[in-house]
Amino acid sequence: MPVRDVLRMGHPVLRERAKPVEAFGTPELRALLEDMKETMAAKSGAGLAAPQIGVSQRIVIFGVDHNPRYPDAEPVPFTVLVNPKLVMLTREVEEDWEGCLSVPGMRGVVPRYTKLKYSGFDIEGTPFERVAEGFHARVVQHECDHLDGILYPQRMTDLSRFGFNEELFPDEEIRDD
Ligand code: NI
Repeated sequence: MPVRDVLRMGHPVLRERAKPVEAFGTPELRALLEDMKETMAAKSGAGLAAPQIGVSQRIVIFGVDHNPRYPDAEPVPFTVLVNPKLVMLTREVEEDWEGCLSVPGMRGVVPRYTKLKYSGFDIEGTPFERVAEGFHARVVQHECDHLDGILYPQRMTDLSRFGFNEELFPDEEIRDD
């Protein structure tokens, strides 16, 4: 299965509201998921949304074991989430740095809710739900935003904390292609 090109900020597909998946467990959907997994792994992403590879459907994947892009991040279980629904469980917001494969080479500080419940389906159509906090909750919000045509710079409140990795973090080794 091929690693796919990741669309960059400015591409019209990244601004669209993606369509819900209606047919689960199809060969096409399984093949798309394999491409998403391979692409995320090849680029060391914490997550990937289908629109980022040009497929405007409500599918995200995410997971962090040890990720060189996020060396201090707590682990997040690898998850395939289709037609997600998010319910915020707090009004508390926390700021932290984010990056995105569609905004290569850059980082920005983004406020996100600290606790939420997410529900949806796996690729075969089995429903599930989970409560997430902290970095896990942040990743879910970032990825699900992609399905509504929103990239993290649109969530920022202070653009003075937006810039290029190499300038912001000259001592870190962040691979970003
Ligand atoms: Ni992203």
